Amino acid sequence: MDIAKTVTRRTILQAGAVAAVGVSGFVPTRFAIGNTAKVKVGFLLPYTGTYAGLGEAITNAFKLAVEERGGKMGGREIQYVAVDSEANPAKGPENTNKLVTGENVDFLVGPVHSGVALGMVKVVRESGTITVIANAGAGAATGPLCAPNIFRTSFTNWQASYPMGKVAVERGLKNVVTMSWKYAAGEEALAGFEANFTKHGGKVVKQIMVPFPSDEFQANLTEIASLKPDGVFVFFAGAGALKFVKDYAAAGLKSIQLMGSGFLTDGVLKGQGEAAEGVLTTLHYADALDTPENKAFRAAYSKSFGKEADVYAVQGYDAAQLLVQGMAAVKGDTGAKPALIDAMEKAVIKSPRGTFTLSKAHNPVQDFYLRQVKGGQEIVVGVAEKALADPATGCKMG
Ligand code: PHB
Repeated sequence: MDIAKTVTRRTILQAGAVAAVGVSGFVPTRFAIGNTAKVKVGFLLPYTGTYAGLGEAITNAFKLAVEERGGKMGGREIQYVAVDSEANPAKGPENTNKLVTGENVDFLVGPVHSGVALGMVKVVRESGTITVIANAGAGAATGPLCAPNIFRTSFTNWQASYPMGKVAVERGLKNVVTMSWKYAAGEEALAGFEANFTKHGGKVVKQIMVPFPSDEFQANLTEIASLKPDGVFVFFAGAGALKFVKDYAAAGLKSIQLMGSGFLTDGVLKGQGEAAEGVLTTLHYADALDTPENKAFRAAYSKSFGKEADVYAVQGYDAAQLLVQGMAAVKGDTGAKPALIDAMEKAVIKSPRGTFTLSKAHNPVQDFYLRQVKGGQEIVVGVAEKALADPATGCKMG
């Protein structure tokens, strides 16, 4: 490119803008001046701790989706800024502010942890920053705390666990122990399972909650052995899930059906090895989905990053797809917020999980697959719930 010519043209354009102000009072919009500036995307994700692998997968796949679409959104290049959330809810608002106020990001992507999400949502409801939740399932973010600028490409904790309640009863499991980390995600996941399970005649004989992110499960596993339930339903994810499944098998509990939302095995199945055989889960994704979108995505992801994609990668990929669609509609003008939001609300996302749209509360309406580990592979048994929407209780879009 001829730099001298570019500078001259830009100088002329700027001079024109200044002249226009002088003559007619025309004030160039931020976009008119800055349409060549990079779009700033802030990641608030865990890069350390039990959820580190999840944050990495979301980041990788977001960037992959952008690269596949020419490295731009609405014709503009992208600058990424990342803050390690440490999956620490206490630092949620402060870390969000680092990106929103400190970095003045155009878009915010994250987090993984529901407790961090609750803090983040409070900040972005005030700032109006367009935010795409690429994992955290906290119901409130698309419930009582929903807002026009808050979107989600993942799931609600209720959504991912509710379907298994019916499956458990159908499989003849009547008395079940539930177990999780004691924070919003675990509480909502267990409540979702229990609502559907009891509706179909099942009974939760004991609920066990352990502090996040503890992975000392021994005493609890001993208690489960003594309770002799028909099944155990849990919410664990990341490194904690890897260890739980191994400990469960090592405690000799394999004859008691282990169930969970699919986070129990996604991204950690290889590390769990034999211990994961037979584990039954529900999730809005499965590695083995036989669609052109999923095959192309998985091939591109493993080629770029040297590891297998998982549900977290899918959610990051789709967060980018959602923003790319929104930015295309406004031709990169981040200042055109109502039009940008409108386009995002109407987006149809051709996801590796299957095509989905968003509910009025901005949460995916999507299929939940029943999966079971067989021979070290996650087998898709069927669809447990078709086009399941979160009830979004308490969401009033302002
Ligand atoms: C959450 O905190 O909402 C959460 C974390 C990890 C998961 C799923 C949900 O895999």
